[in-house]
Amino acid sequence: MCGIVGYVGSRDTAQVLMSGLSKLEYRGYDSAGIAVVKDGSLDIRKAQGRLSNLEKMLGDYEAKGATGIGHTRWATHGEPSQRNSHPHSNCAETIAVVHNGIIENYMKLKQWLISEGAAFSSETDTEVVAHLINHFYDGDLLEAVRSAIGRIEGSYALGVVSENHPGTIIAARKDSPLVVGIGQGENIIASDIPALLAYTRDVIFLGDKEIAMLTRDSVKIHDEYGRQVDRDTYHVEWDAEQAEKGGYEHFMIKEIHEEPKVMTDTLKIKDGMIDLSQIGIDEKAIADIDKVGIIACGTAYHAGMVGKYIIEDLARIPVEVEIASEFRYRKPIIKEGQLVIIISQSGETADTLAAMREAKKCGAKIAAVVNVVGSTIAREADAVLYTHAGPEIAVASTKAYNTQLIAIYMIALELARLKKSIDMNEYTRLVDGLSEVPKLTEKVLDTKGQLQRFAAKNFHKGSVFFIGRGLDYVLSMEASLKLKEISYIHSEAYAAGELKHGTIALIEDGTLVVAIVTQGKLIEKTISNIKEVKARGAKVLAVCFEGTQLAEDVADEVVYLPKADDVFAPILTVTPMQLFAYYMSVEKGCDVDKPRNLAKSVTVE
Ligand code: M6R
Repeated sequence: MCGIVGYVGSRDTAQVLMSGLSKLEYRGYDSAGIAVVKDGSLDIRKAQGRLSNLEKMLGDYEAKGATGIGHTRWATHGEPSQRNSHPHSNCAETIAVVHNGIIENYMKLKQWLISEGAAFSSETDTEVVAHLINHFYDGDLLEAVRSAIGRIEGSYALGVVSENHPGTIIAARKDSPLVVGIGQGENIIASDIPALLAYTRDVIFLGDKEIAMLTRDSVKIHDEYGRQVDRDTYHVEWDAEQAEKGGYEHFMIKEIHEEPKVMTDTLKIKDGMIDLSQIGIDEKAIADIDKVGIIACGTAYHAGMVGKYIIEDLARIPVEVEIASEFRYRKPIIKEGQLVIIISQSGETADTLAAMREAKKCGAKIAAVVNVVGSTIAREADAVLYTHAGPEIAVASTKAYNTQLIAIYMIALELARLKKSIDMNEYTRLVDGLSEVPKLTEKVLDTKGQLQRFAAKNFHKGSVFFIGRGLDYVLSMEASLKLKEISYIHSEAYAAGELKHGTIALIEDGTLVVAIVTQGKLIEKTISNIKEVKARGAKVLAVCFEGTQLAEDVADEVVYLPKADDVFAPILTVTPMQLFAYYMSVEKGCDVDKPRNLAKSVTVE
C-alpha cells in the first residue's frame, strides 16, 4: 500500500521521482506528490488521483541536482484528496515526509503535538511524523528522525527531506518494504526494485528499525540505537525490461504469457528427482512430520488450498490452511517444530508477516514460498523456496500463482517420497508429469481467442458462479477472485455438490456458471450439477480435458485443456480462467492492471 521513492544526485530529480512513481503506481493510485529541496527551499507539489494528474500539474517543472522524495497513495487514514496527499510537512514547511504503512498511535501523538502548538492540515496518520521530527529537530536531522520513530507504533517506510539539509535523504523502515539503490554519484530509495532499476542494480534491503542517511556519495545505515551497521549489497539479476509491458496492452496479459517460462525457472528437477537442496531440507525431520500448516492471503491462500488437497492426497499428511489475518488473532494450536508453509508473492504482506511471526513464536519451523528475493518474509523464515516469477506488476496475481503451485507440488512430492506414501514408480511418473506442465501451459494459451470471443458476448453479466469438485473446487476459488477483482462482476466459487444446499436459489435464466470438470472420478457427479443449473436457465462454460465428451452435451461452450494427470489440473486450468477474467475486464473497459480500491502489496492490516 503506497509507494515511496527518494533521489539524491545530479539528474533532474523531479523526473527521476516521477519515473520511479510510475513503477510504483501499482501500490496505490489515490493521489501522488513530490517534495524537492531546490535552491535552499522545500517545494511540495501534489495532486489527487492518478499520477498523470500530477504529471499534468508539473508540466515542464525541472529540479536538476535537487534532493527529493515522492509518493503514490493508497488511502488508509483520510479520504483520497489533495490535502491528504503526501508528502506531508511541519507547519513551517521545512521538513517533508512520505510514508508507507500505518501509525497506530497517531491519535495520541496528534493530541500531544497539538498541545505543544502544532497545527495539522490533513486527516492522515503520516502528518504526525512530520510534526514529530520537527519537534525533536535541533540541527541533526538523522537524530530527529531516530527520536521520532522511537515514539511511533505501527509500520512505516519513510523518506524525509529538509530544506536545512539539501543533499540529504533520511529513510527508515519497520514492517514496510524499503530498498536503497546504490548508484555512482547518486543514491535512491524506493518501496520496490523496479523504481530504481533505471539507475542501478545494486541494492540494500533496509532491515527493520534501521535508518539510512543518503547523500550523493554515501549511504550510511544505523540501527535503532544509532550505531552504524554494515549491510550486504545485493545485485539484482533481472533487468528493467522485465518490469515493462514489452508490447502487450497490459501487464496482466504479458504476465500470463510468461507463465510457461517462469514455471520452468521455478521447477527444480535433477536426475529425475525434485531438488529442494536450496532450502536445506532435513530429510529425517521431514519423515517425522505429522501435520503441516499453510498460511497466506488472497491468491497465495488459494495456492495453499491446492497445497492442502495435493499434500493430503500424495503425502497423506493432514494440512491446515489458514487466512493470515485470521490466524494472527487466534490462539493457534501449533506443536513445537511443526512445519508451517508461508506463501507470499511480495514477501511483505503485513498479515502474512505477522502470522508467520506468531507461528514462529509458537515454535513452528517456517518454510516460505516467496517471489521477491530479500523480502522480509524471505529473511525471517527458517527456509525459503523462491518462486522465479520475476517482477509481477499487474495488481491481479497470475504468473506468481502458477509458480506458487509449482513450488507446492514440489514440496508435496518430496513429502510423499520421504513419507513413502507413494512408491518410486509413481513418484517418477508424477515428477515427469510436473516437468511437462510448462509446455502444456503454452498450448493452454491458445484458448485465448475462444475466451476473448466468449467474454465479448458475456461481459455484461451481473454475476458469475464457478463450480467444481475436489481440486476443481479449490481452483474455482482463484478463478472467482480473479474475475471479481479486475472486472467488478460479482462472483462466487462453490463446491458443485454444495450448490443444492442453498446457493442454487440464485440461479436464474441467463446466469453464467463456469463449471470446471477435470477430475476423472468426479466428472459424472459434476455433470449432474451442471444439469441442475442448466435446468434452471443457467448458461454454462465448461473447462475440461480433451476427450471429456459428456461436457459438450451439457455445456453451452467448452474450453479444452491438453490431457495431463488429473492431479495437475489446477495449474493447467488457471491460465484460461485468468484469460477469461482478463478479457471480461477489457470488454468492460476496466483498468485491468490497476483495479479500483486495490493495491499490489498489502503492507497494512
Ligand atoms: O504478496 P502476497 O502474495 O502475500 O499477496 C497476497 C494477496 O494480497 C494477493 O494475492 C492478492 O489477493 C492479489 N490481488 C490477488 O490477485
